[in-house]
Amino acid sequence: IITGTLALSVFTAVLGSLQFGYNIGVINAPQKIIEAEYNSTWTHRYSEPIPEATLTSLWSLSVAIFSIGGMFSSFCVGIISEWLGRRKAMLINNLLAFIGGGLMGMSKISQSFEMMILGRFTIGAYCGLASGLVPMYVGEISPTNLRGALGTLHQLAIVTGILIAQILGLESLLGSEELWPVLMGITVIPTVLQMALLPFCPESPRFLYIIRCQEHHAKSGLRRLTGRLDVSEDLAEMKEEKRRMDMERKVSIAELFRSPLYRQPIIIAILLQLSQQLSGINAIFYYSTSIFQKAGVESPVFATIGAGVVNCAFTVVSLFLVERMGRRTLHMLGLAGMCVCAVVMTIALNLLEGVPWMSYISMLAIFGFVAFFEVGPGPIPWFFVAELFSQGPRPAAMAVAGCSNWTANFIIGMGFQYIANLCGPYVFLIFAALLLFFLLFTFFRVPETRGKTFDQISANFHRHPQTMMDMDLDMELDKPSTELEYLGADGTEH
Ligand SMILES: *[C@@H]1O[C@H](CO)[C@@H](O)[C@H](O)[C@H]1NC(C)=O
Repeated sequence: IITGTLALSVFTAVLGSLQFGYNIGVINAPQKIIEAEYNSTWTHRYSEPIPEATLTSLWSLSVAIFSIGGMFSSFCVGIISEWLGRRKAMLINNLLAFIGGGLMGMSKISQSFEMMILGRFTIGAYCGLASGLVPMYVGEISPTNLRGALGTLHQLAIVTGILIAQILGLESLLGSEELWPVLMGITVIPTVLQMALLPFCPESPRFLYIIRCQEHHAKSGLRRLTGRLDVSEDLAEMKEEKRRMDMERKVSIAELFRSPLYRQPIIIAILLQLSQQLSGINAIFYYSTSIFQKAGVESPVFATIGAGVVNCAFTVVSLFLVERMGRRTLHMLGLAGMCVCAVVMTIALNLLEGVPWMSYISMLAIFGFVAFFEVGPGPIPWFFVAELFSQGPRPAAMAVAGCSNWTANFIIGMGFQYIANLCGPYVFLIFAALLLFFLLFTFFRVPETRGKTFDQISANFHRHPQTMMDMDLDMELDKPSTELEYLGADGTEH
């Protein structure tokens, strides 16, 4: 059952994801206008027009420094979420959004592209923290059977943010010469809303009980979230996790890679993040307008918005499927579909000259590519990492996963243009090959986590550090010997 408190808490948290998506999408539409602004600022300062190369690098920097901010701050998610608690960390993070939104919104008045770049860095740092804190908080407050569905809301908020940014960025709305500072600064509105609502949300009971040992507070939080007076069942599950965690040492990032207990899950976590970013989805989102243009679609801007709508719609589909079909199945379905669409798109774009109706095929392929992305590789990696690890190694694991996601994001953002120039119309075959690799990896290495407690999932890696293919069969039995084997494995480790 979803109580009012649970709904409010999840809604409040994913306002952070909404801003994340908004700031990914917002930079594309007004590119030409902001570049002209940089040019006029430069002319004003130095009495000569800006050199072409300088403008290109200033613009690339404005776009890409966002990922650098995210890279740094996503690394601090673990420390900050533990030090302040999940809720207060989200609250304080909003300061970064204020500063970033303010800097970007004022950069035109102040005639300063430095402010714009600094603002993009700050808002990137905000998004890096949010992209770690939101799935963590939502995952911890959700009941086990809804964890996936509610976890998907993080992604849904991101794609909604992208869509809002695409629509508001239309020239007739805010994407105009006078109004683009509003387009940039408007990101503080969800910030204000989140700050107003957060005091009404309970701190994660899992955090309160397991990290802070405040059973009383955890209990009252659980009561509010579940709407039940008797929360002994949930508490017992947390107790079990805490007991195991107390036997676990606190795990550092270096240890995640050294210890055979964690090596396999951390590799899975990293590769899932990479599968999201290296699938080529951002290439589509940055260049869809020009691809649609090339394919002869009449109004490419609206086709791009169409892709944004498909994006949102299929995130909702995933929301309903994720607890029914499981994470692993959906992730593989998504990767396979994207791979096929990438191949079809390549063929269609190549045949465009001779066969005019290929433009429709390529448009369908792009829509399909986006749809399959949101079925699996879009939403699943975000909350899957939190599911793979128990409390001890979770913060370190989230930091590593977040950082690899942002790094891949940065690489695609900076590198795609060069690769596209090199490979021409065949660039999506590279993504098809990567997708095939991630598909095989998921098939052979990634376990199913649907409907399992954090403990069952992590215990499985401890019992089977080498093979996980037989995981599902074993889970059913869940022999009492688990505990002993777990101790044994842990003992040899120390
Ligand atoms: C900058 O503006 C000047 C004057 O409006 C224009 O001639 C020039 O082409 C612009 N430079 C770039 C790189 O767009």
